[in-house]
Amino acid sequence: MFAKEVYMRRRAALLGKMREAGQSGLVLFVGNADAPAQYKDNCYKWRQDSSWLYFMGLDEPLMAAILDIDSGAETLFADDVEIDDIIWMGPQPSVRSKADAVGIAHTAPYAALGQAVSLAQKSGRSIHFLPPSRYFNTLKLMELLGVKDVKSNVSESLTKAVISLRLIKEDIEIEALDRACDLGFEMHSIGRDAIVPGIVEQEIVGKMEGMALAKGWGVSFPTILTQHGETLHNHGHAAIVEAGKLMVIDAGVESNEHYASDFTRTYPTSGKFTQKQREIYQIVYECNELAFQLAKPGITYREVHLATARKMLECLSGLGLVKGNLDEMVAAGIAGLFQPHGLGHNMGLDVHDMEDLGENLVGYDPDQTRARQLGLRSLRMARRLQPGHVITDEPGIYFIPALIEKFKREGLGHDFVNYAKLEAYYDFGGIRLEDDVLITEGGARRLGSRRLPISPDDVEAVMK
Ligand code: GLY
Ligand code: MN
Repeated sequence: MFAKEVYMRRRAALLGKMREAGQSGLVLFVGNADAPAQYKDNCYKWRQDSSWLYFMGLDEPLMAAILDIDSGAETLFADDVEIDDIIWMGPQPSVRSKADAVGIAHTAPYAALGQAVSLAQKSGRSIHFLPPSRYFNTLKLMELLGVKDVKSNVSESLTKAVISLRLIKEDIEIEALDRACDLGFEMHSIGRDAIVPGIVEQEIVGKMEGMALAKGWGVSFPTILTQHGETLHNHGHAAIVEAGKLMVIDAGVESNEHYASDFTRTYPTSGKFTQKQREIYQIVYECNELAFQLAKPGITYREVHLATARKMLECLSGLGLVKGNLDEMVAAGIAGLFQPHGLGHNMGLDVHDMEDLGENLVGYDPDQTRARQLGLRSLRMARRLQPGHVITDEPGIYFIPALIEKFKREGLGHDFVNYAKLEAYYDFGGIRLEDDVLITEGGARRLGSRRLPISPDDVEAVMK
Protein backbone atom coordinates (compact mmCIF):
# COMPACT_ATOMS: atom_id res chain seq x y z
CA MET A 1 0.00 0.00 0.00
CA PHE A 2 1.13 3.56 -0.64
CA ALA A 3 1.17 6.34 1.99
CA LYS A 4 -2.27 7.61 3.02
CA GLU A 5 -1.64 10.97 1.35
CA VAL A 6 -1.63 9.20 -2.04
CA TYR A 7 -5.18 7.91 -1.54
CA MET A 8 -6.37 11.19 -0.02
CA ARG A 9 -4.98 13.12 -2.99
CA ARG A 10 -6.57 10.75 -5.52
CA ARG A 11 -9.99 10.91 -3.88
CA ALA A 12 -9.80 14.70 -3.65
CA ALA A 13 -8.87 14.83 -7.34
CA LEU A 14 -11.80 12.56 -8.19
CA LEU A 15 -14.30 14.69 -6.31
CA GLY A 16 -12.78 17.80 -7.89
CA LYS A 17 -13.32 16.33 -11.35
CA MET A 18 -16.91 15.44 -10.49
CA ARG A 19 -17.59 19.01 -9.36
CA GLU A 20 -15.92 20.39 -12.47
CA ALA A 21 -18.25 18.18 -14.52
CA GLY A 22 -21.19 19.83 -12.70
CA GLN A 23 -22.03 16.70 -10.71
CA SER A 24 -23.30 16.52 -7.15
CA GLY A 25 -24.45 13.80 -4.74
CA LEU A 26 -22.55 10.72 -3.64
CA VAL A 27 -19.88 8.49 -5.11
CA LEU A 28 -20.41 4.89 -4.06
CA PHE A 29 -17.58 2.35 -4.28
CA VAL A 30 -18.28 -1.30 -3.56
CA GLY A 31 -15.14 -3.36 -2.95
CA ASN A 32 -15.00 -7.04 -3.86
CA ALA A 33 -16.16 -9.95 -1.71
CA ASP A 34 -14.61 -13.41 -1.54
CA ALA A 35 -15.99 -15.52 -4.39
CA PRO A 36 -16.73 -19.18 -3.64
CA ALA A 37 -15.13 -21.59 -6.11
CA GLN A 38 -16.95 -24.70 -4.90
CA TYR A 39 -18.53 -23.65 -1.61
CA LYS A 40 -18.48 -20.65 0.72
CA ASP A 41 -15.31 -21.60 2.56
CA ASN A 42 -13.31 -22.59 -0.53
CA CYS A 43 -12.92 -19.42 -2.52
CA TYR A 44 -11.08 -18.27 -5.61
CA LYS A 45 -7.86 -16.53 -4.77
CA TRP A 46 -8.64 -13.17 -3.23
CA ARG A 47 -8.24 -10.14 -5.54
CA GLN A 48 -9.54 -6.69 -4.69
CA ASP A 49 -11.27 -4.49 -7.28
CA SER A 50 -8.66 -2.34 -9.03
CA SER A 51 -10.49 1.00 -8.80
CA TRP A 52 -11.05 0.33 -5.11
CA LEU A 53 -7.32 -0.37 -4.73
CA TYR A 54 -6.52 2.85 -6.59
CA PHE A 55 -8.67 5.11 -4.39
CA MET A 56 -8.93 3.21 -1.12
CA GLY A 57 -5.86 0.96 -1.04
CA LEU A 58 -7.41 -1.49 1.45
CA ASP A 59 -6.86 -5.00 0.17
CA GLU A 60 -9.62 -6.83 2.02
CA PRO A 61 -13.06 -8.22 1.23
CA LEU A 62 -16.44 -6.72 2.08
CA MET A 63 -15.76 -3.04 2.23
CA ALA A 64 -17.58 -0.10 0.66
CA ALA A 65 -17.10 3.65 0.69
CA ILE A 66 -19.25 6.71 0.15
CA LEU A 67 -17.63 9.98 -0.89
CA ASP A 68 -19.83 13.05 -0.70
CA ILE A 69 -19.18 15.27 -3.73
CA ASP A 70 -20.84 18.28 -2.10
CA SER A 71 -19.35 18.20 1.41
CA GLY A 72 -16.22 16.13 0.75
CA ALA A 73 -17.13 13.78 3.65
CA GLU A 74 -15.81 10.23 3.30
CA THR A 75 -17.09 7.09 5.03
CA LEU A 76 -15.65 3.59 5.03
CA PHE A 77 -18.22 0.82 5.54
CA ALA A 78 -16.68 -2.34 6.99
CA ASP A 79 -16.97 -4.63 10.00
CA ASP A 80 -14.63 -5.24 12.88
CA VAL A 81 -13.95 -8.92 13.42
CA GLU A 82 -15.70 -10.80 16.19
CA ILE A 83 -14.52 -13.78 18.22
CA ASP A 84 -15.84 -16.29 15.66
CA ASP A 85 -13.74 -14.61 12.96
CA ILE A 86 -10.68 -14.35 15.22
CA ILE A 87 -10.77 -18.13 15.77
CA TRP A 88 -10.30 -18.66 12.01
CA MET A 89 -8.48 -15.53 10.90
CA GLY A 90 -6.53 -14.41 13.97
CA PRO A 91 -6.74 -10.89 15.41
CA GLN A 92 -7.23 -8.13 12.81
CA PRO A 93 -6.62 -4.38 12.87
CA SER A 94 -9.74 -2.36 13.63
CA VAL A 95 -11.77 -0.72 10.89
CA ARG A 96 -10.88 2.60 12.48
CA SER A 97 -7.15 1.95 12.07
CA LYS A 98 -7.67 0.79 8.47
CA ALA A 99 -9.58 3.99 7.70
CA ASP A 100 -6.77 6.01 9.30
CA ALA A 101 -4.21 4.23 7.12
CA VAL A 102 -5.86 5.68 4.01
CA GLY A 103 -7.05 8.96 5.50
CA ILE A 104 -10.81 8.30 5.66
CA ALA A 105 -12.47 10.26 8.49
CA HIS A 106 -15.67 8.30 9.15
CA THR A 107 -16.45 4.61 9.55
CA ALA A 108 -19.70 2.67 9.77
CA PRO A 109 -20.70 -1.02 9.83
CA TYR A 110 -21.03 -2.67 6.42
CA ALA A 111 -24.73 -3.26 7.05
CA ALA A 112 -25.27 0.51 7.46
CA LEU A 113 -24.54 1.01 3.77
CA GLY A 114 -28.12 0.21 2.75
CA GLN A 115 -29.54 2.88 5.01
CA ALA A 116 -27.00 5.48 3.87
CA VAL A 117 -27.93 4.83 0.24
CA SER A 118 -31.68 4.88 0.83
CA LEU A 119 -31.46 8.09 2.88
CA ALA A 120 -29.62 9.75 -0.02
CA GLN A 121 -32.17 8.42 -2.49
CA LYS A 122 -35.06 9.74 -0.39
CA SER A 123 -33.55 13.20 -0.35
CA GLY A 124 -33.16 13.09 -4.13
CA ARG A 125 -29.38 12.97 -4.25
CA SER A 126 -27.57 11.39 -7.18
CA ILE A 127 -25.60 8.23 -6.48
CA HIS A 128 -22.66 7.71 -8.82
CA PHE A 129 -21.11 4.30 -9.24
CA LEU A 130 -18.79 2.51 -11.69
CA PRO A 131 -19.63 -0.42 -13.95
CA PRO A 132 -19.18 -3.40 -11.61
CA SER A 133 -16.48 -5.88 -12.62
CA ARG A 134 -17.99 -8.86 -10.79
CA TYR A 135 -21.40 -10.40 -10.26
CA PHE A 136 -21.24 -9.87 -6.50
CA ASN A 137 -20.86 -6.13 -6.98
CA THR A 138 -23.66 -6.10 -9.53
CA LEU A 139 -25.97 -7.91 -7.11
CA LYS A 140 -24.93 -5.66 -4.24
CA LEU A 141 -25.69 -2.55 -6.30
CA MET A 142 -29.07 -4.00 -7.35
CA GLU A 143 -29.90 -4.60 -3.69
CA LEU A 144 -28.63 -1.22 -2.48
CA LEU A 145 -30.21 0.88 -5.21
CA GLY A 146 -33.34 -1.19 -5.78
CA VAL A 147 -32.68 -1.32 -9.53
CA LYS A 148 -32.82 -4.32 -11.84
CA ASP A 149 -30.60 -2.84 -14.53
CA VAL A 150 -27.32 -1.75 -12.99
CA LYS A 151 -25.57 -1.31 -16.35
CA SER A 152 -27.79 1.48 -17.60
CA ASN A 153 -27.57 3.31 -14.25
CA VAL A 154 -23.77 3.56 -14.05
CA SER A 155 -22.38 7.06 -13.89
CA GLU A 156 -20.61 8.00 -17.09
CA SER A 157 -19.15 11.12 -15.50
CA LEU A 158 -17.68 9.08 -12.64
CA THR A 159 -16.39 6.45 -15.06
CA LYS A 160 -14.70 9.11 -17.20
CA ALA A 161 -13.23 10.86 -14.15
CA VAL A 162 -11.77 7.58 -12.84
CA ILE A 163 -10.37 6.68 -16.26
CA SER A 164 -8.75 10.10 -16.66
CA LEU A 165 -6.93 9.65 -13.35
CA ARG A 166 -5.91 6.01 -13.70
CA LEU A 167 -4.82 6.40 -17.33
CA ILE A 168 -1.94 8.74 -16.50
CA LYS A 169 0.40 6.86 -14.21
CA GLU A 170 1.96 8.64 -11.24
CA ASP A 171 5.68 8.29 -10.49
CA ILE A 172 5.01 5.81 -7.67
CA GLU A 173 2.94 3.70 -10.06
CA ILE A 174 5.68 3.78 -12.69
CA GLU A 175 8.14 2.54 -10.07
CA ALA A 176 5.69 -0.26 -9.19
CA LEU A 177 5.25 -1.12 -12.87
CA ASP A 178 9.03 -1.22 -13.34
CA ARG A 179 9.22 -3.68 -10.44
CA ALA A 180 6.41 -5.80 -11.93
CA CYS A 181 8.26 -5.82 -15.26
CA ASP A 182 11.49 -6.90 -13.58
CA LEU A 183 9.54 -9.84 -12.15
CA GLY A 184 8.10 -10.47 -15.61
CA PHE A 185 11.64 -10.51 -17.01
CA GLU A 186 12.63 -13.14 -14.46
CA MET A 187 9.54 -15.24 -15.11
CA HIS A 188 10.09 -15.18 -18.86
CA SER A 189 13.78 -16.02 -18.51
CA ILE A 190 12.84 -19.11 -16.48
CA GLY A 191 10.33 -20.10 -19.16
CA ARG A 192 12.74 -19.60 -22.03
CA ASP A 193 15.53 -21.53 -20.30
CA ALA A 194 13.18 -24.47 -19.63
CA ILE A 195 12.34 -25.04 -23.31
CA VAL A 196 13.77 -28.43 -24.28
CA PRO A 197 12.24 -30.89 -26.73
CA GLY A 198 10.57 -33.70 -24.79
CA ILE A 199 9.32 -31.67 -21.81
CA VAL A 200 5.58 -31.15 -21.30
CA GLU A 201 4.55 -27.49 -21.70
CA GLN A 202 2.84 -27.65 -18.29
CA GLU A 203 6.19 -28.19 -16.58
CA ILE A 204 7.51 -24.93 -18.02
CA VAL A 205 4.34 -23.12 -16.97
CA GLY A 206 4.69 -24.53 -13.47
CA LYS A 207 8.24 -23.19 -13.13
CA MET A 208 7.21 -19.77 -14.40
CA GLU A 209 4.11 -19.46 -12.25
CA GLY A 210 5.98 -20.79 -9.20
CA MET A 211 8.34 -17.84 -9.54
CA ALA A 212 5.42 -15.43 -9.95
CA LEU A 213 3.99 -16.71 -6.67
CA ALA A 214 7.33 -16.79 -4.91
CA LYS A 215 8.17 -13.17 -5.71
CA GLY A 216 4.85 -11.50 -6.47
CA TRP A 217 1.11 -11.88 -6.07
CA GLY A 218 1.03 -14.41 -8.90
CA VAL A 219 0.32 -14.16 -12.61
CA SER A 220 -1.33 -11.06 -14.05
CA PHE A 221 -3.42 -13.29 -16.39
CA PRO A 222 -3.51 -17.00 -17.24
CA THR A 223 -0.20 -17.89 -18.89
CA ILE A 224 -0.20 -18.45 -22.63
CA LEU A 225 2.55 -20.91 -23.53
CA THR A 226 2.02 -22.81 -26.73
CA GLN A 227 3.49 -24.25 -29.89
CA HIS A 228 0.20 -23.27 -31.54
CA GLY A 229 0.77 -19.55 -31.37
CA GLU A 230 -1.70 -19.08 -34.22
CA THR A 231 -4.39 -19.56 -31.54
CA LEU A 232 -4.07 -16.16 -29.90
CA HIS A 233 -5.06 -17.08 -26.35
CA ASN A 234 -4.21 -20.76 -26.17
CA HIS A 235 -4.41 -21.84 -22.53
CA GLY A 236 -3.84 -25.57 -23.00
CA HIS A 237 -0.44 -26.78 -21.78
CA ALA A 238 -0.65 -30.52 -22.29
CA ALA A 239 1.55 -30.76 -25.40
CA ILE A 240 5.08 -32.13 -25.42
CA VAL A 241 7.70 -29.69 -26.70
CA GLU A 242 8.74 -30.75 -30.19
CA ALA A 243 11.95 -29.84 -31.95
CA GLY A 244 11.70 -27.35 -34.82
CA LYS A 245 8.56 -25.56 -33.60
CA LEU A 246 7.92 -22.03 -32.41
CA MET A 247 6.90 -21.51 -28.80
CA VAL A 248 4.88 -18.41 -27.96
CA ILE A 249 5.15 -17.36 -24.32
CA ASP A 250 2.77 -14.54 -23.38
CA ALA A 251 2.85 -14.12 -19.62
CA GLY A 252 3.12 -11.59 -16.85
CA VAL A 253 3.55 -11.21 -13.13
CA GLU A 254 1.27 -9.19 -10.88
CA SER A 255 3.45 -7.68 -8.18
CA ASN A 256 2.47 -7.73 -4.51
CA GLU A 257 1.40 -4.10 -5.07
CA HIS A 258 -0.99 -5.44 -7.77
CA TYR A 259 0.69 -3.83 -10.77
CA ALA A 260 0.89 -5.94 -13.90
CA SER A 261 3.52 -6.84 -16.44
CA ASP A 262 2.78 -8.47 -19.79
CA PHE A 263 5.52 -9.69 -22.13
CA THR A 264 5.48 -11.98 -25.13
CA ARG A 265 8.40 -13.69 -26.76
CA THR A 266 8.51 -16.44 -29.36
CA TYR A 267 11.28 -19.01 -29.27
CA PRO A 268 12.52 -21.69 -31.66
CA THR A 269 12.15 -24.88 -29.62
CA SER A 270 15.45 -26.22 -31.00
CA GLY A 271 17.30 -23.03 -30.10
CA LYS A 272 17.77 -21.96 -33.73
CA PHE A 273 15.21 -20.54 -36.16
CA THR A 274 14.68 -22.21 -39.51
CA GLN A 275 15.07 -19.86 -42.47
CA LYS A 276 11.29 -19.65 -42.84
CA GLN A 277 10.76 -18.93 -39.13
CA ARG A 278 13.49 -16.29 -39.10
CA GLU A 279 11.97 -14.46 -42.07
CA ILE A 280 8.61 -14.07 -40.35
CA TYR A 281 10.20 -13.41 -36.95
CA GLN A 282 12.28 -10.58 -38.43
CA ILE A 283 9.10 -8.88 -39.70
CA VAL A 284 7.38 -9.02 -36.31
CA TYR A 285 10.58 -7.79 -34.66
CA GLU A 286 10.78 -4.83 -37.04
CA CYS A 287 7.13 -3.98 -36.37
CA ASN A 288 7.75 -4.07 -32.62
CA GLU A 289 10.75 -1.76 -33.01
CA LEU A 290 8.86 0.57 -35.33
CA ALA A 291 5.98 0.92 -32.88
CA PHE A 292 8.42 1.83 -30.11
CA GLN A 293 10.18 4.41 -32.32
CA LEU A 294 6.89 6.03 -33.25
CA ALA A 295 5.32 5.98 -29.79
CA LYS A 296 5.56 9.48 -28.36
CA PRO A 297 3.24 12.23 -27.17
CA GLY A 298 1.08 13.62 -29.95
CA ILE A 299 0.67 10.59 -32.20
CA THR A 300 -2.38 8.34 -31.75
CA TYR A 301 -1.81 4.67 -31.03
CA ARG A 302 -4.22 3.99 -33.87
CA GLU A 303 -1.73 5.70 -36.20
CA VAL A 304 1.06 3.59 -34.73
CA HIS A 305 -1.04 0.44 -35.24
CA LEU A 306 -1.63 1.38 -38.87
CA ALA A 307 2.05 2.21 -39.45
CA THR A 308 3.04 -1.25 -38.18
CA ALA A 309 0.31 -2.83 -40.32
CA ARG A 310 1.82 -1.09 -43.37
CA LYS A 311 5.33 -2.23 -42.43
CA MET A 312 4.09 -5.80 -41.95
CA LEU A 313 2.44 -5.84 -45.38
CA GLU A 314 5.51 -4.31 -47.00
CA CYS A 315 7.70 -7.09 -45.57
CA LEU A 316 5.18 -9.82 -46.37
CA SER A 317 5.07 -8.54 -49.91
CA GLY A 318 8.87 -8.93 -49.99
CA LEU A 319 8.25 -12.64 -49.27
CA GLY A 320 5.62 -12.79 -52.00
CA LEU A 321 2.77 -13.58 -49.60
CA VAL A 322 0.88 -10.42 -50.55
CA LYS A 323 1.13 -8.08 -53.51
CA GLY A 324 -0.18 -4.67 -54.59
CA ASN A 325 -0.33 -1.08 -53.45
CA LEU A 326 0.55 -0.81 -49.76
CA ASP A 327 -1.89 1.98 -48.92
CA GLU A 328 -4.71 0.11 -50.61
CA MET A 329 -3.80 -3.04 -48.70
CA VAL A 330 -3.79 -1.19 -45.38
CA ALA A 331 -7.13 0.44 -46.21
CA ALA A 332 -8.60 -2.94 -47.18
CA GLY A 333 -7.55 -4.36 -43.78
CA ILE A 334 -5.34 -7.10 -45.26
CA ALA A 335 -3.04 -6.89 -42.23
CA GLY A 336 -5.93 -8.27 -40.14
CA LEU A 337 -5.59 -11.61 -41.93
CA PHE A 338 -2.12 -11.94 -40.40
CA GLN A 339 -2.61 -9.97 -37.18
CA PRO A 340 -6.27 -10.18 -36.18
CA HIS A 341 -5.63 -8.23 -32.97
CA GLY A 342 -4.64 -4.70 -32.05
CA LEU A 343 -1.11 -3.44 -31.50
CA GLY A 344 -1.60 -3.04 -27.77
CA HIS A 345 -3.61 -2.08 -24.72
CA ASN A 346 -3.29 0.03 -21.59
CA MET A 347 -1.65 -1.60 -18.60
CA GLY A 348 -1.60 -0.73 -14.89
CA LEU A 349 -3.40 -2.31 -11.96
CA ASP A 350 -5.06 -4.53 -14.57
CA VAL A 351 -3.16 -6.15 -17.38
CA HIS A 352 -5.79 -4.74 -19.78
CA ASP A 353 -6.16 -1.68 -17.64
CA MET A 354 -9.70 -0.67 -16.65
CA GLU A 355 -11.45 -2.66 -19.34
CA ASP A 356 -14.18 -3.34 -16.77
CA LEU A 357 -15.00 0.37 -17.12
CA GLY A 358 -15.64 0.06 -20.84
CA GLU A 359 -13.09 -0.68 -23.58
CA ASN A 360 -14.06 2.30 -25.71
CA LEU A 361 -14.15 4.83 -22.88
CA VAL A 362 -10.72 3.64 -21.76
CA GLY A 363 -9.00 3.18 -25.10
CA TYR A 364 -10.58 5.80 -27.38
CA ASP A 365 -10.58 9.60 -27.33
CA PRO A 366 -14.00 11.24 -27.67
CA ASP A 367 -13.27 12.09 -31.33
CA GLN A 368 -12.29 8.52 -32.21
CA THR A 369 -14.60 5.73 -33.24
CA ARG A 370 -13.76 2.08 -33.20
CA ALA A 371 -13.19 0.48 -36.59
CA ARG A 372 -15.13 -2.59 -37.76
CA GLN A 373 -12.27 -4.14 -39.70
CA LEU A 374 -10.67 -7.39 -38.54
CA GLY A 375 -7.57 -6.52 -36.53
CA LEU A 376 -8.17 -2.79 -36.17
CA ARG A 377 -11.48 -3.45 -34.42
CA SER A 378 -9.57 -5.30 -31.70
CA LEU A 379 -7.32 -2.32 -31.02
CA ARG A 380 -7.94 -1.67 -27.32
CA MET A 381 -5.82 1.48 -27.11
CA ALA A 382 -6.21 3.99 -29.93
CA ARG A 383 -5.82 7.27 -28.02
CA ARG A 384 -3.51 10.16 -28.73
CA LEU A 385 -0.49 9.33 -26.59
CA GLN A 386 0.35 11.42 -23.55
CA PRO A 387 3.18 11.26 -21.02
CA GLY A 388 2.18 8.78 -18.31
CA HIS A 389 0.33 6.37 -20.60
CA VAL A 390 1.50 2.79 -20.14
CA ILE A 391 0.81 0.60 -23.13
CA THR A 392 1.89 -2.67 -24.68
CA ASP A 393 3.66 -2.95 -28.03
CA GLU A 394 2.67 -6.40 -29.28
CA PRO A 395 2.59 -7.00 -33.00
CA GLY A 396 2.20 -10.55 -34.25
CA ILE A 397 1.94 -12.62 -37.40
CA TYR A 398 -0.23 -15.71 -37.35
CA PHE A 399 -1.12 -18.20 -40.02
CA ILE A 400 -4.62 -19.33 -39.08
CA PRO A 401 -5.71 -21.89 -41.69
CA ALA A 402 -9.43 -21.50 -40.90
CA LEU A 403 -9.22 -17.71 -41.29
CA ILE A 404 -7.19 -17.87 -44.50
CA GLU A 405 -9.67 -20.39 -45.90
CA LYS A 406 -12.58 -18.13 -44.93
CA PHE A 407 -10.96 -15.15 -46.69
CA LYS A 408 -10.36 -17.31 -49.76
CA ARG A 409 -13.89 -18.75 -49.77
CA GLU A 410 -15.47 -15.33 -49.45
CA GLY A 411 -13.19 -13.77 -52.04
CA LEU A 412 -11.74 -11.34 -49.50
CA GLY A 413 -8.44 -9.74 -50.40
CA HIS A 414 -8.07 -11.85 -53.53
CA ASP A 415 -6.42 -8.87 -55.30
CA PHE A 416 -3.71 -8.76 -52.67
CA VAL A 417 -3.21 -12.16 -51.05
CA ASN A 418 -1.14 -14.92 -52.61
CA TYR A 419 -3.30 -17.78 -51.34
CA ALA A 420 -1.30 -20.45 -53.18
CA LYS A 421 1.90 -19.44 -51.42
CA LEU A 422 0.19 -19.16 -48.04
CA GLU A 423 -0.65 -22.85 -48.07
CA ALA A 424 2.98 -23.60 -47.28
CA TYR A 425 2.46 -21.74 -43.96
CA TYR A 426 -0.57 -23.64 -42.69
CA ASP A 427 1.55 -25.50 -40.12
CA PHE A 428 3.74 -22.51 -39.25
CA GLY A 429 1.98 -21.37 -36.07
CA GLY A 430 2.34 -17.78 -34.94
CA ILE A 431 4.76 -15.19 -33.61
CA ARG A 432 4.06 -12.37 -31.16
CA LEU A 433 6.60 -10.04 -29.54
CA GLU A 434 5.46 -7.80 -26.72
CA ASP A 435 7.08 -5.12 -24.58
CA ASP A 436 5.55 -2.79 -21.99
CA VAL A 437 6.07 0.88 -22.76
CA LEU A 438 5.78 4.13 -20.81
CA ILE A 439 5.11 7.30 -22.79
CA THR A 440 7.41 10.05 -21.51
CA GLU A 441 7.65 13.80 -22.19
CA GLY A 442 10.21 13.26 -24.92
CA GLY A 443 9.17 9.89 -26.33
CA ALA A 444 8.90 6.51 -24.66
CA ARG A 445 10.83 4.02 -22.61
CA ARG A 446 10.40 0.31 -22.14
CA LEU A 447 9.46 -0.63 -18.60
CA GLY A 448 11.70 -2.82 -16.48
CA SER A 449 15.42 -2.47 -16.00
CA ARG A 450 16.32 -5.09 -18.64
CA ARG A 451 14.72 -6.00 -21.94
CA LEU A 452 14.17 -9.66 -22.72
CA PRO A 453 16.35 -10.68 -25.68
CA ILE A 454 14.32 -10.06 -28.81
CA SER A 455 16.42 -9.78 -31.99
CA PRO A 456 16.66 -13.17 -33.72
CA ASP A 457 20.43 -13.28 -33.14
CA ASP A 458 20.08 -12.40 -29.46
CA VAL A 459 17.35 -15.02 -29.00
CA GLU A 460 19.51 -17.73 -30.56
CA ALA A 461 22.50 -16.62 -28.49
CA VAL A 462 20.62 -16.76 -25.21
CA MET A 463 19.16 -20.19 -26.03
CA LYS A 464 22.56 -21.75 -26.69
N1 GLY B 1 -1.23 -10.77 -22.76
C1 GLY B 1 -2.53 -11.10 -23.14
C2 GLY B 1 -3.21 -9.99 -23.83
O1 GLY B 1 -2.69 -8.92 -23.94
O2 GLY B 1 -4.34 -10.16 -24.26
MN1 MN C 1 -0.75 -7.87 -23.91
